[in-house]
Amino acid sequence: MMTGGIWENAVRYFTQHFDGRGEDLLLSNPGTCDFLGTVTARSLEGLAGRIASCRKCGLAKSRNRAVPGAGNPRAGLMLVGEAPGQEEDLRGEPFVGAAGRLLEKMIGSVGFTREEVYITNILKCRPPMNRDPHPDEIASCLPVLERQIALIRPALILALGRIAGQTLLRTGLSVEAMRGKVHESGGRTLMVTYHPAALLRSPDKKRPAWEDLKMLRKQYDLRVGDKTPWNPPKQA
Ligand code: URA
Repeated sequence: MMTGGIWENAVRYFTQHFDGRGEDLLLSNPGTCDFLGTVTARSLEGLAGRIASCRKCGLAKSRNRAVPGAGNPRAGLMLVGEAPGQEEDLRGEPFVGAAGRLLEKMIGSVGFTREEVYITNILKCRPPMNRDPHPDEIASCLPVLERQIALIRPALILALGRIAGQTLLRTGLSVEAMRGKVHESGGRTLMVTYHPAALLRSPDKKRPAWEDLKMLRKQYDLRVGDKTPWNPPKQA
């Protein structure tokens, strides 16, 4: 059984499976994930097509539908969850079940709508029985998320829960240690808060989550303000 953070386990996986070259490659290219081939789709639609037909890991066999992500392609704020659940797997859309309904309320409480942000997950396919993602699945799927971030260029990323925080920050820290601050990492600005499913299980976490959301709003206003659209298309 593997111990440690999800990112450390992903590094270990590659170290074991790629003759010791994995760690070097992974750590020297944290933003590009070239070790599995950079994903080069030029648009979110193109990327969604590739995700729909992806067979890089075993989850392709058990999924009903891949769940690329949804929302505003020019969003200033991107939300990253863990992996699709049962309803998401059936509908092909992220956060449409109970956790999604709470997520909408959470972001709504600080003035964001689902339509103005972009929502995606670390994994684009549902792990059977909603088990934790395996390190090899994360490593296979990460280039896709990297490409989504590169295409959308959000001012701020909010990681929802331990797996998303650990993966995006390349760390083994707990949610408690990652939340409540602004992380500048690999040229990105990132915050971490509790996953809405964790708030459904443990309502005592709602207060600290609310503090995180207020901080998120402040950071968003500082960085994006009234710049609309936040993310104009690049000149050809
Ligand atoms: N939980 C997640 O992390 N993502 C979803 O899309 C749904 C539930």
